[in-house]
Formats: sequence, C-alpha cells, structure tokens
Amino acid sequence: MSMIKGFHHLTAGVSGAQEDVDFYVKLLGQSLVKKTVLLDGEDPIYHLYYGNANGDPGTLVTSFPFRQKGVKARPGSGQVRVINYSVPKGSLNFWRSRFDNFKVSYDVEIPERFNERRQRFYHPCGIEFDLVETDLDTRPACVAKDIPEAFAVRGVHSITLSLREVAESIRFMGEALGFRQVGQSGPYYRFETHTGGPGMVVEFFHEPDRHQGSSIYGEGTIHHVAFAVDSVDQQMILKDRFMGMGYIDTSESVNRNYFRSMYFKMPGGVIFEAATTDIGFAIDEEPGHFGEEFQLPPWLVDRKDELLGRLEPIAV
Ligand SMILES: [Fe+2]
Repeated sequence: MSMIKGFHHLTAGVSGAQEDVDFYVKLLGQSLVKKTVLLDGEDPIYHLYYGNANGDPGTLVTSFPFRQKGVKARPGSGQVRVINYSVPKGSLNFWRSRFDNFKVSYDVEIPERFNERRQRFYHPCGIEFDLVETDLDTRPACVAKDIPEAFAVRGVHSITLSLREVAESIRFMGEALGFRQVGQSGPYYRFETHTGGPGMVVEFFHEPDRHQGSSIYGEGTIHHVAFAVDSVDQQMILKDRFMGMGYIDTSESVNRNYFRSMYFKMPGGVIFEAATTDIGFAIDEEPGHFGEEFQLPPWLVDRKDELLGRLEPIAV
C-alpha cells in the first residue's frame, strides 16, 4: 500500500490578495482556513489557506499573492496546469450561472474525460480550474447561504500536470510514489493512489511542444502540489527511495509550522512535496475558528505588527 494517501495541499502564486479571497470564499464557498505569511524570504507576502471548514488535507489550496512584489511566473510544461474540484453530478448549470453573476470567465464547451463531465473556469490571475462532476466524493460539502449542498464543492478531485515527456514520469508515479495507472485517453494519463477516487487522482497531459514553465514563486502559476504522508519518518523513506532511483533533487524536511515539508522534483519537472498530517491547524486556533486571526509561527510572532503593516488589509 502506498504511503501517499492523497493530496495535502496545492500552492499557487496569484495576483492580489483580496481578489483571491473573493474567488475562493465568495465564489467557490471555500473557508479561509489560515491567514499567515510566506516563510521563505524577507519581504512579507501573505500565505492564505483555503479548504473545507475542517481544513482537511486534500481540500486545501493555498495562495501567495505576488502582485505586491511584481513577480510574474511563466506558465508552461513541467507544472501543475489545472486544479480540478469535485462537485456532484448535475451541478454544472448552477456553476455556469454563478460564473456569469460573478463575471468569472469559463469555457463554453463541457468536455467529458474518463466518464466525468468537466467545466473549465479561470482564476483572475489566469490559473485554470475544472469542476469535475462525480457522485463518488463523500467529503463534507462546502456550502454557503447561496451554495446548496446539491451543488457544493467537496474538495480537490485531481490535478492535471503538463508534461513534455511522460515515459520516466509514468515509471516514477508507480515505482517511487505507489500510484496505479488506471487509464489513458489520447494525451491524458490517469493515476490513482490508496483507495482511488476523488482526492487521490493525478492526471498527466502530454504536451510535447509546450515550452518549459518557471519554478519560481510568482503570479499566475501553480507552484507545487503536496501529497499527504503520516510523518517525517515516511518523508525520509521516500527521500531514500528517490535517491536510490537517481532522483537527487530532494530537500531536507522543512518546518512549515502546521506540517513538515519535503520537496522533490519529479522527472517531468513538476515540484512535488510530501507534507505530514501529524500537526495541523489547531495549534494556534480552535476548530471552528480557523482563519479568523492573522497567525505567525513562534519565530516570527514578535514581528506581527510590523509584518501586518506591510500587507494589504483583506476582508473575508
Ligand atoms: Fe507546500
């Protein structure tokens, strides 16, 4: 059985903080689970975590609003290209009229892949999202007063990677990460881990002619995907396995306050992370109150007023 049970979080560089909050919270009904700062570098940049109300791993998408620094990332291959959220079957019309109301751009066509209908729509910074219709996602619905349970997002269904070459990456998904290849449809390859189904699905989109995308933090790309593992011990088992296979591009275990992170590049160039589930968001806010206050890790807490003063105020 794979050590990887599914997704932990996805992290993207976006433009402004307020429009990002409006996109996830107002439009999609996600909860702001944690409001903190990017822990790399000197200049404060928000780190905003969105997910279901419990902040469950596998529902989490996090943002760095990089417009403040004026850094743009380059979309391309070797990146997570699309974040796919699951919604119940029959809900796409609800979302299309909601996109009209919120002036969110979306595609006219509704394609079907692996027997699932999907609706493409766009974050204000250009990042691509799909709503994928499925009745197999039993996670709690992200309801709001204008989003009924029958249509509500359940969590991250899958991710779609853009890859110029797939052969080594197919091998890596199986031998290194324990995923099973469960289908191919034209340029799309589908993999599942653990029990399979929503939250445990990775897709490759083979795009041999797409230019290389950037690996920096910046506006307009999904920077990395984190998979959930139990502990630092499991991170180290994975790290040894990758090194044994010849993939030396791995980090040490890094303290991210709410979890520990080990980063690695998969053969197709996408930044992956193994994030631990042994800590969580309740270390500084009670469940039911996640995301209410600006939070800092113990080593930055003395600088709270200074850091907040250098960030744009946001309203949730
Ligand atoms: Fe991460």
